[in-house]
Amino acid sequence: LTFTTNSRTDRIPAEERARVLADPGFGKTMTDHMVRIRWTRDGGWENGDLLPYGPISLDPAASVLHYGQEIFEGLKAYRHEDGSIWSFRPQANAERLQRSARRLALPELPTDDFVESIKVLVDADQDWVPDYGTGETSLYLRPFMIASEAFLGVRPANEATYYVIASPAGAYFSGGIKPVSLWLSTDYARAGDGGTGAAKCGGNYASSLAGQVQAAEYGCDQVVFLDSSTHTYIEELGGMNLFFVYRDGRLVTPQLTGTILEGITRSSILQLGSEMGLTVEERRIPIQEWKDGVASGEIAEVFACGTAAVVTPVGTLKWDGGECTVSTEPGEATMKIRETLLDLQYGKTADTRGWMQRL
Ligand code: PLP
Ligand code: COI
Repeated sequence: LTFTTNSRTDRIPAEERARVLADPGFGKTMTDHMVRIRWTRDGGWENGDLLPYGPISLDPAASVLHYGQEIFEGLKAYRHEDGSIWSFRPQANAERLQRSARRLALPELPTDDFVESIKVLVDADQDWVPDYGTGETSLYLRPFMIASEAFLGVRPANEATYYVIASPAGAYFSGGIKPVSLWLSTDYARAGDGGTGAAKCGGNYASSLAGQVQAAEYGCDQVVFLDSSTHTYIEELGGMNLFFVYRDGRLVTPQLTGTILEGITRSSILQLGSEMGLTVEERRIPIQEWKDGVASGEIAEVFACGTAAVVTPVGTLKWDGGECTVSTEPGEATMKIRETLLDLQYGKTADTRGWMQRL
């Protein structure tokens, strides 16, 4: 595919952009441009366009608005010390978008076109990538695809549209690196066997919200879901994977059962952890093991991870009838994994694994 890039405009004045970049928060302000690529079943992918950021016009009968045929991705662009801009394993995001597309009966965007779409947007909006050395800041990139055909019958749409938008990002959780609290949802599940849990589709997030609301009612930052078949095994949070650090040096995370998202941060941490000398395990983890492990001291640290959350220490787990706190401070292994990952992403250490791609 080629991209037309002649409609560049700076929507937001430089002073306003500077104000946003000084304290971006997460997902609040979008940049000046967006990328769009249209697809039709007969014609395939059209060439892409870089457009001024703005509202999109959709037929009210567009299937995405009725049946939720939508998928998305999340990755970041990082500024290095020499001013260059890099992304982390974008091919992995491209491949996950293709897997999500297969599950949601949407078209697969080839990997090279996915990476190019991000390059085109970051090139136009490079002034929106926060400076090197401004903490955990980056430009968050949000590729997504919607079923845009106007048709009310239930079948895969014959027209889809892919977009990329971007938003400068600081820490996902405000308040610095302090352990977050999790609410154990027993009323709600996020995904079920044979469902869409392993796909990154909007519906999974919609179905996580009631649990998230309940978490907030119990004073917790996030919700943790169990498997929906047996209500026994830990799955993941609404938007992050979970890891446990055992006192004996094991690093344990729920295995991929088809009902959780295959996090790119998760898979990177499995590799980094093993290189650090931790014994990594992917397996089913009963929720009781968390409670018992904290009580016995066998579990030393718990953390959540994801593109937005990076590596976030978890302190307290609350459930209907009790709670346990593994730690009130970020753990040592958690912080070491976090720093190792961030140092790589910001180019402070050499990329020996071929994970960084210049944009
Ligand atoms: N799990 C869910 C449900 C998510 O939304 C995310 C975020 O993308 C993750 C896990 C972590 O995935 P990644 O590390 O690829 O960002
Ligand atoms: C991401 O980490 O990219 C996500 O999509 C998760 C969401 C909580 C923002």
